[in-house]
Amino acid sequence: MGAPSAPPCTLHITWKDLLLTASLLIFWNPPTTAQVMIEAQPTKVSEGKDVLLLVHNLPQNLAAYIWYKGQIMDIHHYITAYVKDTDTIIFGPAYSGRETVYSNASLLIQNVTQKDTGSYTIQIIKRGDRTEAVTGHFTLYLETPKPFISSSNFNPREATETVILSCDPDTQDVSYLWWINGQSLPISRKLQLSKTNRTLVIFGVTKDTAGPYECEMKNPVSSSRSDPVTLNLLPELPKPYITSNNFNPMENKNVVALTCEPKTQNYTYVWWVNGQSLPVSPRLKQPGKNRFLILPNVSRNDTGPYQCEIRDRVGGMRSDPITLDVLYGPDVPRIFPPFTYYLSGENLYLYCFADSNPPAEYSWTIDGKLQQSGQKLSIPQITTEHSGLYGCSARNSATGREMSTFKTIKVSETGSPQVTYAGPNTWPQEILPL
Ligand SMILES: *[C@@H]1O[C@H](CO)[C@@H](O)[C@H](O)[C@H]1NC(C)=O
Ligand SMILES: *[C@@H]1O[C@H](CO)[C@@H](O)[C@H](O)[C@H]1NC(C)=O
Ligand SMILES: *[C@@H]1O[C@H](CO)[C@@H](O)[C@H](O)[C@H]1NC(C)=O
Ligand SMILES: *[C@@H]1O[C@H](CO)[C@@H](O)[C@H](O)[C@H]1NC(C)=O
Ligand SMILES: *[C@@H]1O[C@H](CO)[C@@H](O)[C@H](O)[C@H]1NC(C)=O
Ligand SMILES: *[C@@H]1O[C@H](CO)[C@@H](O)[C@H](O)[C@H]1NC(C)=O
Repeated sequence: MGAPSAPPCTLHITWKDLLLTASLLIFWNPPTTAQVMIEAQPTKVSEGKDVLLLVHNLPQNLAAYIWYKGQIMDIHHYITAYVKDTDTIIFGPAYSGRETVYSNASLLIQNVTQKDTGSYTIQIIKRGDRTEAVTGHFTLYLETPKPFISSSNFNPREATETVILSCDPDTQDVSYLWWINGQSLPISRKLQLSKTNRTLVIFGVTKDTAGPYECEMKNPVSSSRSDPVTLNLLPELPKPYITSNNFNPMENKNVVALTCEPKTQNYTYVWWVNGQSLPVSPRLKQPGKNRFLILPNVSRNDTGPYQCEIRDRVGGMRSDPITLDVLYGPDVPRIFPPFTYYLSGENLYLYCFADSNPPAEYSWTIDGKLQQSGQKLSIPQITTEHSGLYGCSARNSATGREMSTFKTIKVSETGSPQVTYAGPNTWPQEILPL
């Protein structure tokens, strides 16, 4: 009766204790090379299952076995030991709680995890005329899981986007292989594998490099391949451009119709004015899916710049900006400075300005008589005879419009009441650099 698999008396003691307890173990003897053979049962084990590391060809006169994780035989890598004389099991720092050592030296690892993969070393202490140790190594691999390909983007824009594929899950002690169209990857600057080969970077993905891709995980005991994955290429967006029925429209006269080219079926259009998406306004009519922008009564404020953008469901492409050269004016001219009264002997200096595109041509009259052309009128040392009605006329040959304004100038003898010119700071900004 009693549980046959119940472990013999187990003790938690330190490495030092082990040395003292088993004083017959003389570790400073150089161990002889591996002679024992270790075999995993089953040969293929997957995560969560149990595996038994069977030890064959055990030597005679055994004193103890010590299992280590890895190839370094020190206290940190020490999993468990079995001392034959006392039928004692001792656990070390590398013991996970899932390892069982048997009296025949085999090691059972239950509920195997990825962390359990890698190499194991058994050190077998022999007692004879001399105490010596024999070691054996084994590398444990798990059955590779079926991998799957994940992508930074399954719908990349053709020829412009970079895509990163990875072979998942990230697994220890496996090598990765990639296939495109069932062939191993061609050497290409557009395809770049990471150091571990787990990720594949595809630069500027095109039809040639869209797939189908498969990845494979491989270790000495098994290999498995993913399902194929093909990237869904989004067509390259054409760069749009703007055409207009009139790039030099006249204010309050012309209807301007801007068109975003090319015409396509699968895209939507968006307009930008002055870098902002088009404000909603009853003035701006946009028939036909926004490909046309109609300015029914163009004004100088509609100069632009205009851009149009074509969009699909993931992105957009904008045209170069265009501006409208709206012809307008001249507005009613203004004469500066705004003073009427002058003293005899002063210099008269008048300046005329009317907003206009293209700039207006100016001319001056005094009491209806043409005086001179130009924006400025200057008469040095005026006398009372220079009193009169001064007229400035502004003309825009492009719009055919002409506008005039008049101003009375009164020159009095010295000593009469006067109004002094307040200085150039009161002059409008646009005429300051006289
Ligand atoms: C060692 O013991 C275990 C557990 O009793 C057993 O399953 C295994 O077959 C034995 N190994 C050898 C090599 O006899
Ligand atoms: C195996 O390990 C996992 C995670 O460490 C745990 O959730 C599970 O309960 C364990 N299974 C057994 C049978 O011990
Ligand atoms: C990555 O793959 C190349 C061949 O495609 C191979 O030569 C190289 O050894 C692999 N590197 C690793 C770390 O597996
Ligand atoms: C255009 O606008 C101006 C001023 O806003 C107005 O005088 C003119 O009648 C308008 N013309 C048309 C065709 O709507
Ligand atoms: C528009 O989309 C359809 C299907 O989505 C496609 O067959 C067609 O080629 C596309 N047309 C253009 C001009 O891209
Ligand atoms: C242009 O814009 C200015 C400032 O927003 C406004 O005062 C002016 O009336 C506008 N002119 C026209 C012709 O719409």
